[in-house]
Amino acid sequence: MEKETYLGDGVVTGYGTIEGRLVYVFAQDFTIFGGSLSESFAMKICKIMDQAMKMGAPVVGINDSGGARIQEGVNALAGYAEIFQRNILASGVIPQISAIFGPCAGGAVYSPALTDFNIMTKGTSYMFLTGPKVVKTVTGEDVTQEQLGGASVHATKSGVAHFAVDSEEDGLKLIRKLLSFLPQNNLEEAPLMTCNDPIDRLEDALNEIIPDSPNKPYDVYEVIGGIVDNGEFLEVHKDYAANIVVGFARFNGTSVGIVANQPKVLAGCLDNNASRKAARFVRFCDAFNIPIVTLVDVPGFLPGTQQEYGGIILHGAKLLYAFGEATVPKVTVTLRKSYGGAYCVMSSKHLRGDINYAWPTAEIAVMGPSGAIEVLYGKEVAAAPDPAKLAAEKETQYRDAFANPYNAAKYGYIDDVIEPRNTRFRIIRALQQLSTKKLTNPAKKHDNLPL
Ligand code: HXC
Repeated sequence: MEKETYLGDGVVTGYGTIEGRLVYVFAQDFTIFGGSLSESFAMKICKIMDQAMKMGAPVVGINDSGGARIQEGVNALAGYAEIFQRNILASGVIPQISAIFGPCAGGAVYSPALTDFNIMTKGTSYMFLTGPKVVKTVTGEDVTQEQLGGASVHATKSGVAHFAVDSEEDGLKLIRKLLSFLPQNNLEEAPLMTCNDPIDRLEDALNEIIPDSPNKPYDVYEVIGGIVDNGEFLEVHKDYAANIVVGFARFNGTSVGIVANQPKVLAGCLDNNASRKAARFVRFCDAFNIPIVTLVDVPGFLPGTQQEYGGIILHGAKLLYAFGEATVPKVTVTLRKSYGGAYCVMSSKHLRGDINYAWPTAEIAVMGPSGAIEVLYGKEVAAAPDPAKLAAEKETQYRDAFANPYNAAKYGYIDDVIEPRNTRFRIIRALQQLSTKKLTNPAKKHDNLPL
């Protein structure tokens, strides 16, 4: 090793600007010892991370590394731990974005895991704690890099990757776009863009989008596309837990985080993965002063042993917690169903939702009509001469009484029932009103999020 010296030691570090805004960057070079991390390699990264914290500017890391450099022993491990410590302290202070542009193992995946967003290139990037060679030695399992930790695995199964892109160039463009939605640090606001999309644009199609049958799905992307500036939406975690949609958009030039149930997938139910996905996104937005717009159409939490064994109680609580602790402006629009615990969770009035609107098609109740009839009138219906007729009558009564937004509005839990085509304008007006919002949580060392 003493005989092999490479100037720069496998990592390039520095700073530059993106759209005139300061950004710190490091990029690892796989051609030098597989991009593995030595002590001096680590110190170079730490140096720019410290600068970024002092200056209040984002850090972008381009990762392409076999992890701790084996020949350096504990000094390489120490180097990673120094980076991890900085990742942790920077979390929620400056945006941290990781691009994964090659095989990454060990510390080269744990550091990205501590950052806000991971972007992987399809077919050329891999993330795993230990690579296939070590896996084979330890467990005897034969597995390819792609099977173990390719972009498709992490963008769909594990959720480790927030974005999967076709090329490194696409990845770099995506980073520029992502940064345009974010402030430089937690004390600033995201940049306000010029908006050429009329704020009072009526989207007539939204008046017709909810199907007559409550069990028929529609595509929530059409709602998002219809209301945000120029229909532009940067989706995060597109292929992971598709029953909830999260991402960035703008209303009248203001950056917002959108959280929307997707009725097309699992009827929009909240499950373990959807809860974790949305909770992390909500917490990111809250940490960086990005208002949250929530579009609700949720029949409840997904029931069953798979979900219970997987910890839906804890994971669902994460989303509940995330919405409840968020102090940024929160605007909620209930499009259709909002049942049971999921009603409480999805940025309800009771979790300090600032403005809660509903479409006339909203149904806010403890549970859906058929479930409620079964619980309340199951025996009576079974004993009736014509059970189907009685069940239908009871269902109509239940719908009239509960499956509408007016009960919730009566108590002030819904601020207004709005015309769907006017949703864009109403959200923009709400965000304008909330732009000076000040709200702080009780002082504490830190919270105890149900992990
Ligand atoms: C030193 C390394 C290295 C490492 C790769 N190389 N990883 N050198 N330390 N960690 C070198 C190889 O010896 C080789 O050198 C060159 O980089 C290219 O590696 P290949 O194996 O030929 O490349 P490839 O087939 O593409 O496989 C890439 C890989 C594999 C999947 C990343 O190299 C691998 O499995 N590496 C070990 C990964 C790992 O288990 N790391 C964990 C470290 S522990 P030559 O001279 O032949 O070109 C860690 C702890 C951090 O990071 C703490 C976590 C909490």
